[in-house]
This record gives sequence, C-alpha cells and structure tokens, in this order.
Amino acid sequence: MKSKAGKRPLMPADLLAQLEETARGALQDIEESADSEDLATKRTEVLGRGGVLNQALKHLAELPQPERGDVGRRANEVKATLEKAFAARREALETSLLEMQLRQEALDVTLPGRPPVRGRIHPANQTLRQILRIWAEMGFQVYRSREVETDELNFGLLNMPPYHPARDQWDTFYTTNPQVLLRTHTSPGQIHVMRERAPQPIRVVLPGMCYRYEQVTARSEIQFNQVEGLAVGRRITFADLKGTLTAFARRLFGAQVATRFRAAHFPFTEPSAEMDVECFVCGGVGCPVCKGTGWLEVLGSGMVHPTVLNNGGYDPAQFSGFAFGMGPERLTMLKHRIEDIRYFWSNDLRFLEQF
Ligand code: DAH
Repeated sequence: MKSKAGKRPLMPADLLAQLEETARGALQDIEESADSEDLATKRTEVLGRGGVLNQALKHLAELPQPERGDVGRRANEVKATLEKAFAARREALETSLLEMQLRQEALDVTLPGRPPVRGRIHPANQTLRQILRIWAEMGFQVYRSREVETDELNFGLLNMPPYHPARDQWDTFYTTNPQVLLRTHTSPGQIHVMRERAPQPIRVVLPGMCYRYEQVTARSEIQFNQVEGLAVGRRITFADLKGTLTAFARRLFGAQVATRFRAAHFPFTEPSAEMDVECFVCGGVGCPVCKGTGWLEVLGSGMVHPTVLNNGGYDPAQFSGFAFGMGPERLTMLKHRIEDIRYFWSNDLRFLEQF
C-alpha cells in the first residue's frame, strides 16, 4: 500500500471520532430546531444522501476488514439513534404547536351564547289579528279576496257605474288594462262572497291590503289594510248593525267605551253611518288627538244597498244586510298615538321594535 508523503494512513479511530463528532453536532441541531420545517431541513443535511453522516463515512471503504465492519456497525447505530431523535423531536414540535393552537383558538363554552334576533308581528298585523279575533268570537268567518280587481267589482257592482262622481273619492291605480286595477277598498270582496254563497246567510270579515293613488303624507299612504265586514240574511236591521258594531267597539276599546253613529254617505249602503268612539286619550273631554271633539272616527258602515244585494245574487225583497269597513293602521295610530302613517311601511326598526 502506497502512502502519500506527510499523511498517515486512515485509522478506524479517526473515523469513529468523526462519526461521534457528527452525531453530537446533529443531536445538538435537533434539540435547537425551532419548528418542523427547520427540523426537516436539518434532517436532509444530516441523514440525506449528501449529508454530513455520509460525508463522515466517505472513507469507510479505505479501511481494512474487519475494522471496516466495526465502524460500519457503529455508523448504523448512530444513524438509527439520529433517526429516532429526529422522529421524537418532530413529535414534540407538533405537540407543542397543537397545544399552542388550542390555547390561542380556545372556545370558551361557558360564555353566554349570542341571542338570536327575534322577529315580531308588525304593529298593523297585531291590530289586524286582534280585530279578526273579536269578529271570530262574534261568529264572523275570515274571507280573503284578491288585491287585483276589475273596475266592475271595485266600483260598478258596488253601485258606482262608470263616470259616477263618487268614484272620485277613491284615487285609483289603474293597470295598463283599463278594466283592471288595484282594489281601493275591500268592499269588492262583498260581491265575491255573496255570489259564492247566495242564497245562504253570510257573516264574514274580509281583511287585506288596499291601494290608492295618493300623495304620500303623514295622513295618507298608497297602501294600507282594511277589514270589511258583511252580514246578509232575512230581517237584518239597522238595530243589528248598531248593536253588533257597538259590541265590537267594547271588545276592542273596553267595556265602558261610548259610541255614536253619524249619518254618512257611501254608494253601496243605504242608509250609511260612521261610527265614532269616545276619545280614549282624553275620555271625551277634548284633546289634540280627537281635535277637541271628544270623539274618534273608527269605521264606515251602512245597510247593504238593494242594488248591491241584487248584484250579489240576493233578492232585496227577502234579504237585507249590513256592512262596514275599518282601517287597522288608523286604529293602531289612534291606540298608540302614532302621528305619521308612513312609519308603517318604511321598515325602520326603531319604530317597529316599539311594538
Ligand atoms: N269601502 C269604504 C272605504 O274604503 C269603507 C266602507 C264604508 C265599507 C261603508 C263598507 C261600508 O262596507 O258599509 O272608504
């Protein structure tokens, strides 16, 4: 074997020393690695094909047997130890990362939950339901009819032929078809229910949305609810109208409330009357809500006009009836002293949440 000048032959002890040195350094690196990414890089540097461990064993082949075998065995042990150290360190890093995440993203289940936002019934519908409940107790069934009507049902069959001046009282939304409009009141429902039931006796209330082509102001809206009522039978009199509507007013406003009927005019009733209740704000003395009169107008009513009975399929010689119409929004405004009808449809939660 030729030896180069100034260089002694490689001894097994040198290789072993180098091996141990590499192992120590590697173990130190493993201990100091900050995260699993850092650890993975180090692992390649130490155990990879071109890594320091292989570098340290580069000259293994130069050793004579059996020393080569001894050093080789030790090298395998060192390699296994390092593999284990890498694995253990990786697990430790992952565990501490998980623990940190659990700490940081902790969910405190003892905190009170976020209360779900609860909806509620719109104030106009609260009044509407209250009105319908009272009429149901008095034997009046709810009958629903359409919001889009014909000119004939909204006006003609209610005793207002074309060009009748009374039509001017109802500013109307017409559609592009001149025969079709948005109902201006719930009264056309009277014709629907009569034509369906004749000659049976009728006791119904007809709730629903009505539309008017109005300038929107604090006092008038282009849409609002009405509750219509209709009773048809034999020998129904104006006394029945007064008694029934007074009973309704007492149920809605309180057993002690005073009512009065004033003569009025509607084309579909004869005679016609408007019912007032004693002002519940001032008790009848006079205040801004009742404009000093002591009375509040709550509905229109009358005995069904013979022409209307006839149009509904009832012979006015044998049948009679009374009808009425009221506005839940108007009643709600009176009850809560709401001064602007526009609040009802402006979707302002500050308003709606008060009810
Ligand atoms: N339809 C009328 C209106 O909108 C209200 C009304 C008055 C209805 C008298 C009736 C009634 O049934 O008899 O102004």
